[in-house]
Amino acid sequence: MDVLEAIKGRRSIRSYVPSEIDVKQLEAVFEAAIWAPSAGNLQPWEFIVVDDKEVMRRLARASLNQMWMVEASSIIAVCADLDRTGVIYGERGRRLYAIQDCAAATQNMLLAAYSQGLGTCWVGAFYDDEVKRILNLPNNVRPLALITIGQPRERPTTPPRRGLKEIVHHNTFRKPWYR
Ligand SMILES: Cc1cc2nc3c(=O)[nH]c(=O)nc-3n(C[C@H](O)[C@H](O)[C@H](O)COP(=O)(O)O)c2cc1C
Repeated sequence: MDVLEAIKGRRSIRSYVPSEIDVKQLEAVFEAAIWAPSAGNLQPWEFIVVDDKEVMRRLARASLNQMWMVEASSIIAVCADLDRTGVIYGERGRRLYAIQDCAAATQNMLLAAYSQGLGTCWVGAFYDDEVKRILNLPNNVRPLALITIGQPRERPTTPPRRGLKEIVHHNTFRKPWYR
């Protein structure tokens, strides 16, 4: 699948057909993740695949009761080892680069899943401390995203995007790039 086609066609899926995901497909999703760029190529990401329904229920509760998450085949927790970037880049590494690196990896995962016919949703609304407890994360490891993944049971309509004319600037914020 063409990359632009994947970028435009992917939608957040919040309803899933009960099924197991092929291990090879999941592996392809993680392969896509590790080829994301990262500051200093430090690759601070750690991934936890959760397919135990009870643990998934607990994660859904910690995500402001988004109980639809339990329908997915798995939830992948994308976490950052803040020490990996922090040791080289200090506070900027911990507060910015680690998060950007993991966000890039997350987007790669969503696209790789979509290109294989799988549905995903990037869930960011959760209580960090609760997710840390549920997944037994060490102190230096921060959960950044929970990705639900599985066979989609819906084809959502395309949510609107802000137009290029509004958001692309030229040389200075004050001037539009489009005339
Ligand atoms: C950082 C981040 C956090 C998000 N958190 C949630 C969430 O907690 N629950 C949810 O249902 N969708 C969540 N989303 C998905 C967005 O709602 C979705 O991407 C947006 O509405 C655009 O729809 P699309 O993904 O189908 O293009 C999140 C997306 C991002 C990037």
